[in-house]
Amino acid sequence: MSLQLKQVDVLIIGAGLAGVTVALHLPETYRILLVSKRDVTSSNSDLAQGGIASSYLEPSSLDHAHDTLVASKMTAQADRVVTLVEDGRGVVSEMERFGVAFDRDESGYKIGREGAHGKHRIYHVGGDETGRHVMTALRERLPQNVEVMEHVLIDGLTKTGGRVVGATGFQGDERIHIQAGAVVLATGGIGGLVDWTSNCRAVTGDGLVLASAAGAELSNLTEIQFHPTLLAVETPHLVTEALRGAGAELVDEDGCHVMRHHPLGSLAPRDEVAAVLTRHCGPVYLDTSRVKDIAARFPKLWATCQAERIDVARIPVRPGLHFHMGGVRVDETGSTGVAGLYAVGEVADTGVHGMNRLASNSLLECWVFGKRVAASVRLEERPFTVTEVTAYELSKEAFQAYRRRLGNWLTISPEFGEMRSFLENTQQLARTKHVTRQLAERTLQLEAGRILARAFMRMEEFHEQNVTARTAHTISN
Ligand code: SIN
Repeated sequence: MSLQLKQVDVLIIGAGLAGVTVALHLPETYRILLVSKRDVTSSNSDLAQGGIASSYLEPSSLDHAHDTLVASKMTAQADRVVTLVEDGRGVVSEMERFGVAFDRDESGYKIGREGAHGKHRIYHVGGDETGRHVMTALRERLPQNVEVMEHVLIDGLTKTGGRVVGATGFQGDERIHIQAGAVVLATGGIGGLVDWTSNCRAVTGDGLVLASAAGAELSNLTEIQFHPTLLAVETPHLVTEALRGAGAELVDEDGCHVMRHHPLGSLAPRDEVAAVLTRHCGPVYLDTSRVKDIAARFPKLWATCQAERIDVARIPVRPGLHFHMGGVRVDETGSTGVAGLYAVGEVADTGVHGMNRLASNSLLECWVFGKRVAASVRLEERPFTVTEVTAYELSKEAFQAYRRRLGNWLTISPEFGEMRSFLENTQQLARTKHVTRQLAERTLQLEAGRILARAFMRMEEFHEQNVTARTAHTISN
């Protein structure tokens, strides 16, 4: 196997909005390497439909902060929320300077509304293809000093004297070692670990594994958001909440409104809608009869329904894994607490989402905190050391079987028995020093699953101890 060595000032792992924002805001004198596990467009940012929430045209960001906190059930960190929404007032004009053309008509911006937002404040591009258009425009603006490498799988971070100084991985099947003054994790969430997801399948929690091995703290890992409306077909796609913002209603087989008991109806916070739909017996549909100009406003959905031969007036939906609120704990600058290592976007736990993210706050978070990471990256060249990386020795069939098991317990109602046996069995797996790209990829996915399973088990143990303590307290009184 041949070996490629690279030296850069900043290595950014992940080419979605978080990574690209950092790259766009670093000085052009830096050598920057931006790596993507598949082709650059294989990111959740490219798939984003709804848009970007901003109080750009409101008198202040107060209402946006309020909606963000209420959607999080007051569990988001208030000071970080203020940073998100206040810095986020600039996102529309700032992205426009980079060539993003938000949708407008003769009366100004076409601003949408989504679940748990008190008002219309979602800016979009190309209707429900915001992510694709934003990412195309921004990637075109990446300067010469940013080298983009596709099909690079990073399987380990290297450290010297407590500082992260680079990474090891594969480009194609060739081993690659990268020495970097700073490393930014922008690897996205965990959705690709399971089949019922709105996420890009390449997004499988790699950043959690890399950060944890480097000594960074992971937090709130059990906070996982399920989106209520994935298209209920073999390979699910997201059906954007903006469709409900435009008047679509969730109905059952008989046309009765499924969310009729909630004051916000079909536009209730998405965790509540997903929970109701999960408990609901029988199919659920989006009745779009009140949505005007659906083909023009939701071109991606329209095309998908045509391809799947689905009647766009009555779209079958079901919940699926959508977003990871927890992740690598970072401060307000995106620093992980491990020297030289930053995290941004869905992989990071910035504290802005608490236990339930407000719709269209994720692209906003990538932009606001991506700029902050860029501002705080301080370079310090250090000697390069290569840490030995090992991988699970695992056939394709065995890996697929573990992946299916992971999908069985990583659901809206986690299955603790299955999770325990997954942990016990993967614990026994043999490891090899002869790491190939395939083994590295399988290992990262199973390690991400193990990190999540351990977090759920800790939560369950804590819950049991609490119940025991409360019962003992009641008895002694
Ligand atoms: C959606 O368009 O429904 C998803 C947007 C988001 O996740 O914020």
